[in-house]
Amino acid sequence: MSKLGTKIFDEHHGSTIEEWQGAMLRAAESSDPSFPNFRHLARLGSLNLATGIEEAFKLYKIARPHLDNCVGPQKNYLDFGCGVGRIFKTFMRDFPAQNMTGADVTEEFIDFCKEDFASEFNFTHIPMRPKTQIPSNSVDVITAYSVFSHFSAIQATRWLDEFDRICRSGATIILTTYGRGHLDYVADTDPSELPPNKITQQKDINDAGGKSEFLRMFELGEMLFYARNPAFGFYDYGHAYVGEEFVRRIWGKNFEVVEVVDDYDKLEQMAVVLRKR
Ligand SMILES: C[S@@+](CC[C@H](N)C(=O)[O-])C[C@H]1O[C@@H](n2cnc3c(N)ncnc32)[C@H](O)[C@@H]1O
Repeated sequence: MSKLGTKIFDEHHGSTIEEWQGAMLRAAESSDPSFPNFRHLARLGSLNLATGIEEAFKLYKIARPHLDNCVGPQKNYLDFGCGVGRIFKTFMRDFPAQNMTGADVTEEFIDFCKEDFASEFNFTHIPMRPKTQIPSNSVDVITAYSVFSHFSAIQATRWLDEFDRICRSGATIILTTYGRGHLDYVADTDPSELPPNKITQQKDINDAGGKSEFLRMFELGEMLFYARNPAFGFYDYGHAYVGEEFVRRIWGKNFEVVEVVDDYDKLEQMAVVLRKR
């Protein structure tokens, strides 16, 4: 069995975030065989290696300052909705390979990850709705980048209940969804300057009442969801816009809300850092 994954943790866990990002980019550009393969990065919209890795590190830089007590050889990591392993890769510095799990509803992505990563890493296909096979009280960090941005309020609640079950006390969850920063960017940018998927999103926002209606709902502590992607069941995957008020009012009941970063320049989506009490 390959030991490549274990080596990455041993070699890089003492490095700074900047050194780690540089090492990742060099490994990707040179197809370094001691790193997982990056060939599927473009599958989820990353234009090239450098921008794909930079985007992933934007989340990592928001998450990492909150994780000093949640990383290391005794701790376990889950990337929920791991796709082709983009965010997962940034955490290889923090956990030995055997303590890292990527989970996704799309079997094809799980197959890619199994091909691209050394065999000690764990990748698992999960159902659209809980429950998973992940043991209770076993996980210390969960990331979910651009996954809750596609869930209805009920879907999000069910998954957060599942996270509550599988997390240890003190575990940290970093998830993203569409917030005010994303709404401002998509609604206020001239369509000629938007990529095609965001032109559709702008049209959807206008059809659903426009930016002012979204902001009114945020202030009422609501979130908005509209079904969008028939690749999954129609209501299984759409676009979710969530205000910080909703995060604190609803998600804050079961978790401590540690930080909310809703700034498009820092990250395209709103990042929410939650902690299990
Ligand atoms: C926009 S992609 C983001 C992928 C990855 N997190 C990244 O940032 O590169 C959304 C991912 O969520 C997965 N997904 C959608 N619904 C899911 C669900 N109910 N449970 C787990 N994964 C889901 C999709 O298959 C897809 O891989």
